Amino acid sequence: SAEAVPQAPEDPLYGLKRAFLADPSPNKVDLGIGAYRDDNAKPWVLPVVKKADDILRNDPNLDHEYAPIAGIPTLTSKAIELLLGADSPALKEKRTTSMQTISGTGACHVGALFCARFFRGNKTVYVSDPTWANHNQIFSNVDLPVVKYPYFSKDTKGLNFAGMKAAIADAPEESIILLHACAHNPTGVDPTVEQWAELADLVAQKRHFPFFDCAYQGFASGNLAKDAAAIRLFVERGIELIIAQSFAKNFGLYGERAGCFHVVTDTPETATRVASQLAILQRSEISSPPLYGARIASIVLNDPALFAEWEDNLREMSGRIISMRTALRAKLEELGTPGTWNHITDQIGMFSFTGLNEAQVLKLREEAHVYMTKNGRISMAGLNTKNIDYFAKAVDKVVRE
Ligand code: LMR
Repeated sequence: SAEAVPQAPEDPLYGLKRAFLADPSPNKVDLGIGAYRDDNAKPWVLPVVKKADDILRNDPNLDHEYAPIAGIPTLTSKAIELLLGADSPALKEKRTTSMQTISGTGACHVGALFCARFFRGNKTVYVSDPTWANHNQIFSNVDLPVVKYPYFSKDTKGLNFAGMKAAIADAPEESIILLHACAHNPTGVDPTVEQWAELADLVAQKRHFPFFDCAYQGFASGNLAKDAAAIRLFVERGIELIIAQSFAKNFGLYGERAGCFHVVTDTPETATRVASQLAILQRSEISSPPLYGARIASIVLNDPALFAEWEDNLREMSGRIISMRTALRAKLEELGTPGTWNHITDQIGMFSFTGLNEAQVLKLREEAHVYMTKNGRISMAGLNTKNIDYFAKAVDKVVRE
């Protein structure tokens, strides 16, 4: 009977959001979930998304029929170009297959399911230590064991590259290696292009299967192509790989669940067979993907003028985040807060891994109404010109206690 079902803990991130919303303090600061906020701590509907939305709503031919199983081709075809570059040989040679998904989480799930069903190598997923908390349960839900590789160095608050390489070299041949394409969540620490090149060599040598999670394209450097550099480097080396792509953050379409799953293969024949299996997985789980967010993203990706405007909107978001990094570091240094704070500006993307410990995080929540995850991650977009002084002072206080 259902009575035997044990109580599960609440999702930590959504639990944090709930606690924040319930807090009546006028000073409360939300640095939890990775969602962009403007300088007034409000959600930002991208101006280009508003335009696309108008185009969509005024289309007299719009109906609400089912999308094809693999989603709308005008989206998926542009989505892969965004990752590989329009002139990628893999595209010209038709060695890719793409399917629309329930945003990045859905893409990760489809990828996990696909690996569980069809991967013939070592069915263990190697993930960075730490990684996005949801990765662990997405893979273990389909019975793929998850093993961590060293990633974040507590000493430098940067990348433990030697440790990462050693673990990937030590993993059995043909293992699944999960990599964050850019703007690593939760640390904000990415390998350099040179380090990516070394990793690609190593992965090719060990015949590993890279599983790229690309949730923040446009947020690391503010440049879409640059943020896809790691993926392109692996594809150039002829490595077969998969990519989970989210449009939640870079289009601000969080709740619309727009995203894609892509597989880059050795031959067009393999790509066709993969597509046939993906269609079955998709049909049995969601039949066909949701249209609204996908249509918005598709309108923008297929119109050069709107695309250019999207790039401006992305620069505005990443630029504001960078200015908050600069301001936060400057304020902590000005206050003489014990420790070094260069990592705040060295790290990139939506998040900063502050180095604050769990006790400090909980104190910040109780005493200052500042909400961040227990691992010391802050969503930089939650900071703005109005709350940054308050936050820096609160951090200064807990670090000194
Ligand atoms: C985050 O890590 O805050 C985001 O990716 C949101 C999520 O779904 O976890």
